[in-house]
Amino acid sequence: MVQLTLPKNSTVKKGKVWPAETAANGKKPKRSKEFKVYRYDPDTGANPVVDIYTVDLDSCGPMVLDALIKIKNEIDPTLSFRRSCREGVCGSCAMNIQGGNTLACTKAISDCSGAVAVYPLPHMPVVKDLVPDLTNFYAQYSSIEPFLKTKTAEPEKEWKQSPEDRAKLDGLYECILCACCSTACPSYWWNSERYLGPAALLQSYRWLADSRDEETGERLDGLEDPFRLYRCHTIMNCTQTCPKGLNPAQAIGEIKQMMVKRKT
Ligand code: SF4
Ligand code: SF4
Ligand code: FES
Repeated sequence: MVQLTLPKNSTVKKGKVWPAETAANGKKPKRSKEFKVYRYDPDTGANPVVDIYTVDLDSCGPMVLDALIKIKNEIDPTLSFRRSCREGVCGSCAMNIQGGNTLACTKAISDCSGAVAVYPLPHMPVVKDLVPDLTNFYAQYSSIEPFLKTKTAEPEKEWKQSPEDRAKLDGLYECILCACCSTACPSYWWNSERYLGPAALLQSYRWLADSRDEETGERLDGLEDPFRLYRCHTIMNCTQTCPKGLNPAQAIGEIKQMMVKRKT
């Protein structure tokens, strides 16, 4: 029988319980919340741990990202995470909160019951703490050639598109490449080297669906492979988790239909 063992340092251990914050008047806060945060520094060789921070909610913004920034600024400056726009546009604060992949800046603390569990996006190598290594994810995005490709002579002004054709890009162009979907996809977990995953495939369909693009055939040729496209088994985790309300599973289905149509 096959014996499966986890790598030595993959077990998450108990970490430090940081002293609870006091309120501005030095007394016990009226409203406080525990945050159980994954900590890992590969340079130390030590196992990952979960540290517990207790934050005064009356001096904290409403979102989980606000709490992480407060923890970093006022309790523990060694905590690492990515963030930029703070309003659900850049995609950099994607992480796993209360068991679901989402954006920390749009996840309200009030929507989290009990202690708030904060982990990095699943099944990705971790650079440090809540920062995943997205090198492979971005390389896959690059591989779908996410730009307009044309063969005819350039127009004098712009490439024109009818309002109807432009509307076909709705639900696709809004993707912020946060990686929540791909890192929620079991097929991607097990085959991330060969399966493109829902984010890259939704982006691929964004160009396949663009009436101005003239390399549809070549784009489909690039996806004609047992792994790059067909590893999607329509499990739908991707669509359920997308913080922008997009539907990568449907986009993948549209690509599969395009594949069938061009053969008939
Ligand atoms: S489809 Fe949604 S979850 Fe996936 S990368 Fe784009 S915005 Fe993020
Ligand atoms: S529908 Fe496809 S891409 Fe989405 S989670 Fe399932 S297998 Fe992954
Ligand atoms: S900080 Fe930009 S999406 Fe959250």
